[in-house]
Amino acid sequence: MNIILLGPPGAGKGTLSKKILENLNAVQISTGDIFRYNIKNETPLGVKAKGYMDKGELVPDEVTIDLLWDYFDKLEEDDLLVLFDGFPRTLNQAKALDNGMEERNQKIDGVIYFDVDYDTLIKRTTGRRVCPECGATYHIENHPPKVEGICDKCGTQLIHRKDDELETVKNRIDVYNEQTAVLIDYYTKKGILKSINGTQTVDKIFEEFNDKLGELN
Ligand code: AP5
Ligand code: MG
Ligand code: ZN
Repeated sequence: MNIILLGPPGAGKGTLSKKILENLNAVQISTGDIFRYNIKNETPLGVKAKGYMDKGELVPDEVTIDLLWDYFDKLEEDDLLVLFDGFPRTLNQAKALDNGMEERNQKIDGVIYFDVDYDTLIKRTTGRRVCPECGATYHIENHPPKVEGICDKCGTQLIHRKDDELETVKNRIDVYNEQTAVLIDYYTKKGILKSINGTQTVDKIFEEFNDKLGELN
């Protein structure tokens, strides 16, 4: 199955993805994570993406769509649950995804939309800390590491994402409202959108996700 995780910055897409990967036979394609990996390794793609990401703007569609298919076409098993985390983010990307899926005799089976209020999004993003080495995500209040500033899993010093500073987060939410929120309507009209209350515990969200997956199957 191909499932899109749709929601504003800090909605919990990455957190739910990790939980799903621990429990189900799934893969995650996170365009944000791929860009960050490329920035860290100073690849040409990373250099291109960095300026946009630091400001909280979207990376141009041409770059992002090609990247998506590069990853998708490398998946080896057909029966996997594929999670699209942070893609599509524009109407243009959504249409390219539909067309590309059709060419591959596949389809998007469902879209899980995370409903989360503005204040929660701000608190979650500004309080988030991530491990630059293994990708583990923490939150200074909701989910602190055992030793302040240090990754529980690999001992690396945690970082605060540059785009998680308050002003940039606000811009990311604006960009989401201007360019991404239209996708709620787009997928509702196709009859494949399922909403989840994203302010519950991660376990509860995972439980709901499983229920919705059953409904879509
Ligand atoms: P991306 O990395 O995708 O960022 P985002 O969509 O803004 O989402 P986040 O990763 O910030 O939030 P999330 O929903 O994953 O939340 P998380 O689970 O971490 O994109 C970054 C940038 O890359 C974009 O701005 C753009 O420039 C570029 N880009 C990426 N894709 C692109 C595309 N398709 N087109 C163009 N440009 C693109 O959780 C957040 C925090 O909350 C964590 O601290 C976590 O511990 C906590 N938390 C999560 N869930 C819960 C819960 N249930 N209860 C309590 N705390 C929780
Ligand atoms: Mg994420
Ligand atoms: Zn780590």
